[in-house]
Amino acid sequence: MLNGNLKLAVQKKGRLTEKSLQLLKNCGIDIELYSERLLISARNFDLDILFLRDDDIPEYVQDGVADIGIVGGNVVAEKQSDVRILKELGFGKCTLMIAVPEHYELNNIHELNGKTIATSYPAILQNYLSENKINAKIIQLSGSVEISPSLGVADCICDIVSTGTTLKMNHLKQSFSVYKSESLLISCKKIFEPEKQNLIDSLVMRIESALNARKSKYLMMNIPKSSLNIIKEKLPALKSPTILALADESMLALHAVIPSDKFWEIQSDLKNAGASDILLLPIENIIL
Ligand code: PRP
Ligand code: ZN
Repeated sequence: MLNGNLKLAVQKKGRLTEKSLQLLKNCGIDIELYSERLLISARNFDLDILFLRDDDIPEYVQDGVADIGIVGGNVVAEKQSDVRILKELGFGKCTLMIAVPEHYELNNIHELNGKTIATSYPAILQNYLSENKINAKIIQLSGSVEISPSLGVADCICDIVSTGTTLKMNHLKQSFSVYKSESLLISCKKIFEPEKQNLIDSLVMRIESALNARKSKYLMMNIPKSSLNIIKEKLPALKSPTILALADESMLALHAVIPSDKFWEIQSDLKNAGASDILLLPIENIIL
């Protein structure tokens, strides 16, 4: 374990596990997964991955047991650990919400006065209640918070909502939003040895390039030479497009990197302007 490798903490089993590992793969980091192993080493990067309960990750990183970690901002805020946020990772978006039983009418936040709220996030919730001058009783539970109203343990809950499936399954509905979260790359605040700092810088650079790539697609198409200007105007390209000559002199090939979410907005315009053989390809990495 004390091998000089960079130690990255990742959630062992949960919402962020698969996406965290996929991000590493998109960074070109080769990892072989053995289920139930708590530590694995990458094959082609000086990196050890530690699989931990997400709630423990901020403290392990704060104390330097792990150098860096991928964890939800909700957990970092709850634990109030002294860590550095290196990067917002754009996945694992969720909201910490007050939720009530389906039949319950909660129209005004002040109706929470005197109520009992079960949560795994007592610090964030208390902060929210104090800001809104609400006096409610918090019951701290470490899991299965959503069944507490049906057991008569609490009037309502404050828990993470991502797709909303868990609430629906437990006949609860969302009421007030308490805290918005996404996954973060965090690091220990200590000063690292230069070799380790280089590894962190290199990983962050790869992550940035993988995140940029995810937002973009490579568009290729053939267009009539006469439509070049119209098509260039329609293109939300990141940079000036590449234009290539074709054997048919009345046609050109045009290649451009465009924001992923814009393609379906422009594809009928492209076709109307005579574009054909339109290909949209994923990009693995972009170094700007
Ligand atoms: C949260 C929450 C719910 C689930 C909600 O758990 O406690 O169980 O996610 O997601 P949904 O709206 O998509 O159904 P989390 O992943 O944070 O894990 P943990 O509480 O077990 O650490
Ligand atoms: Zn957790």
